[in-house]
Amino acid sequence: MLPSRLPEPDLYLPRTGEPSLRWGIVGVGWIAGEFANAVRTHTAQRITAVASRSLDRASSFAATHGIDHALGSTEQLVTHPDVDVVYVATPHSAHLSIGLAAIAAGKHVLIEKPITVSAAEAKTLADAARAAGVLVMEAMWTRYLPQTSVIRKLLADGVFGEIRTVLADHGQAIPADPQHRLHRPELGGGALLDLGVYTVQFASMALGAPTRVAAVGAMSKTGVDAYATLVLTHEGDAQSTLHTSLLTRTPMTAVIAGTEATLSVDGVFFAPSSFTLFSADHFGPQLTWSDPTGLRLFDGLSWEATALARFAGEGRTESPVHTLDETISVLATLDEARAQIAASASASAS
Ligand SMILES: NC(=O)c1ccc[n+]([C@@H]2O[C@H](COP(=O)([O-])OP(=O)(O)OC[C@H]3O[C@@H](n4cnc5c(N)ncnc54)[C@H](OP(=O)(O)O)[C@@H]3O)[C@@H](O)[C@H]2O)c1
Repeated sequence: MLPSRLPEPDLYLPRTGEPSLRWGIVGVGWIAGEFANAVRTHTAQRITAVASRSLDRASSFAATHGIDHALGSTEQLVTHPDVDVVYVATPHSAHLSIGLAAIAAGKHVLIEKPITVSAAEAKTLADAARAAGVLVMEAMWTRYLPQTSVIRKLLADGVFGEIRTVLADHGQAIPADPQHRLHRPELGGGALLDLGVYTVQFASMALGAPTRVAAVGAMSKTGVDAYATLVLTHEGDAQSTLHTSLLTRTPMTAVIAGTEATLSVDGVFFAPSSFTLFSADHFGPQLTWSDPTGLRLFDGLSWEATALARFAGEGRTESPVHTLDETISVLATLDEARAQIAASASASAS
C-alpha cells in the first residue's frame, strides 16, 4: 500500500542556526565556479579564500567571485587563519593529498566526488579525519538534495516492501580531447569514478553494499574505462543494474523497485529533480513529487554547503546521511568494477 501522501523533505535551509563558516576553495575549474555561485547566492556561508597552482588564476577567480584572499598554493590556503573549511575541487587524483593537508591543519573538509580514487585512499583519509576529530564529507551533493531526504524517509518507512531491483545510469558525451581530465589515467579519469559513482551511491542508499560485483565495459585508447555496466548482487535476492559512459549522454534516471512499490526518479536523478512513486499493482495509485524549492541544477550544490555547516555546528565529524564507511564501501565497488574491466581488456589484448 502506498502512503496517502509523500513525506515532507528535510531541508538544509540557510540561517536556521548553522554557523556561517569561512570557506577556502582549492581549484579554480568548472565545479569550483558553480559551487562559488551556489554558495554565494543560496547560503549564509562565506568564501574567504581560493587557491590555484597559479596565483594569476586564483586572482582571476577571486575577482569574479568577490573573494578576499587569492593564494598560489594549497599549503597557504589550508593554513590560512581566515579559513574554517576547505572545499577541494581539483581532479580526483589530488583529493587525498589536499584532504590530508587540510585535516593536518585542523580544518573541516568537503571533497568533491569521488572523495579519493580508491577505497584504500578513502580509508587513509577517514582514519586521519577520525584521529584529528574534524568533519570530512564527500561532496556527494545528491545526498543533501530535498528529494533524497524524501526517498530516505520512504526507505526508512519500508514503503517498498522487499527491494528487488535498482536501476541507475549516468552517461555524458565527454569531448574526445585526450587532455580532458576524464581521459587521463594519472588524474583518476574514466567513467566509473566520475559518473558511475552517482549510480553506485544510489544503489548503496537503497540496498547497502553488494555481495558480488560483475562489470562489463571497455577501456579507452588513453587507458581509462570508457563505459561500463555493473550488475551488483545484494543480500535478499536483490540486484542493481548500473550503467555509465563517457561516450553518450544517457537519460540519467534511477529506479528503486520493491514488492510493494516502485520509485522512478526523473533525469537528472542526482541533481534537483522529480519522481513518481507507483503502487506495485500496475493499475494502482501513484504519487508524484517535484522539488518545491525553486533551486535548479547546480544551485543544488548549496544544500551540501549548508549541511556541512549545520553538522560542524552540531559537533559532528561525519555526515549522518553519507558516512565515511559508506563512502569507502562505494569506492570498494568501483575498485572491483574498474579492476574487472581493466583485466578483461588486457586479457583480450593478449
Ligand atoms: N558535484 C558535481 O556536480 C561535479 C561536477 C563536475 C566535477 N565535479 C568534481 O570536481 C572535481 C573537479 O572537476 P572539474 O570538472 O571542476 O575539473 P576542472 O575544470 O579540470 O578543474 C580542476 C581544477 O583543479 C586544479 N588542478 C588541476 N590539476 C591539479 C592537481 N594535480 N593538483 C591540484 N590542483 C589541480 C586546476 O586549477 P589550477 O591548475 O589553476 O591549479 C583546475 O582548475 C572532480 O573531482 C570532479 O569529479 C563534481
